Amino acid sequence: MTRIVVVGSINMDLVTLALRFPAPGETLLGDRFLTVHGGKGANQAVAAARLGARVCMVGAVGDDTFGQQLHDGLAHEGVATEHVRRIADCGSGTASITVAGGENQIVVVPGANARVTPTHVEQAQSTIAQADAMLVQMEIPLETVEATLRLGHRLGVPVILNPAPARQLPVEWLKLARYVTPNQHELATLLGADEHEDFRALMLRAPCPVVLTRGAEGAWYADGAELVHQPGFKVDVIDTTGAGDTFNAALAVFLRKGLPAAVRIACAAAALSVSRLGAQGGMPRHNELEAWLADQG
Ligand code: RIB
Repeated sequence: MTRIVVVGSINMDLVTLALRFPAPGETLLGDRFLTVHGGKGANQAVAAARLGARVCMVGAVGDDTFGQQLHDGLAHEGVATEHVRRIADCGSGTASITVAGGENQIVVVPGANARVTPTHVEQAQSTIAQADAMLVQMEIPLETVEATLRLGHRLGVPVILNPAPARQLPVEWLKLARYVTPNQHELATLLGADEHEDFRALMLRAPCPVVLTRGAEGAWYADGAELVHQPGFKVDVIDTTGAGDTFNAALAVFLRKGLPAAVRIACAAAALSVSRLGAQGGMPRHNELEAWLADQG
């Protein structure tokens, strides 16, 4: 069984469905409201567990009602939670999400996620040392992202860095990642480059191996000096929230099959995830994904 450690955020997603996004200053009537479990870290942990991996989550929730629900939700999905801390006098992370026409807008308030420290990651060292891969994103403090990259590198455990939400990072940090998985906008921000520069040129210039996600168009990765395009799979889009998280989880779980196969499976998993509502709502299980991929030929 593939063992994955995820270091990252755990949020309660407050999702509003509307026909369109409101303009600044405008009040709109929405169609539906739902409260679902999310956070890039927790989403990646749940997606990896559903795909058959043994997953340990390193993160934090607050001592509010959301915190207990989020903790229990992870445990219910089979994710090990001994490194999920409950922070006293602190709210859990929240994400206010508006979904309209298959697109989303998200505002994240980090809450307890801002209290995930390098020490917290070091305390999970014995679990990390036995992992096949680690996943880390950027909804936790950057010093903790750096500590994760350094620890993975020191222990010889490949780290996949999903640089979302995007910020520019030091080149030395990027060199510690086995793969960095931005979208086009995140790659430009990460490298401090012009957003309009061709993403292929940016990929070739990056100081680390990049697997670039392009939404419905699939993903790109480098094979030696060549860039390879894995086309996306066609599905009816309901909600794209969590598609990137599903992609990253599948990439980590199936990396042992080699990068081309892992990227193809990751694109398929991400496609399936957008066909249902909620970040974790559409994340496929291993047997569902295998059967669907077999049907695609
Ligand atoms: O990647 C999707 C996630 O981003 C949502 O679940 C939300 O919590 C935000 O963190």
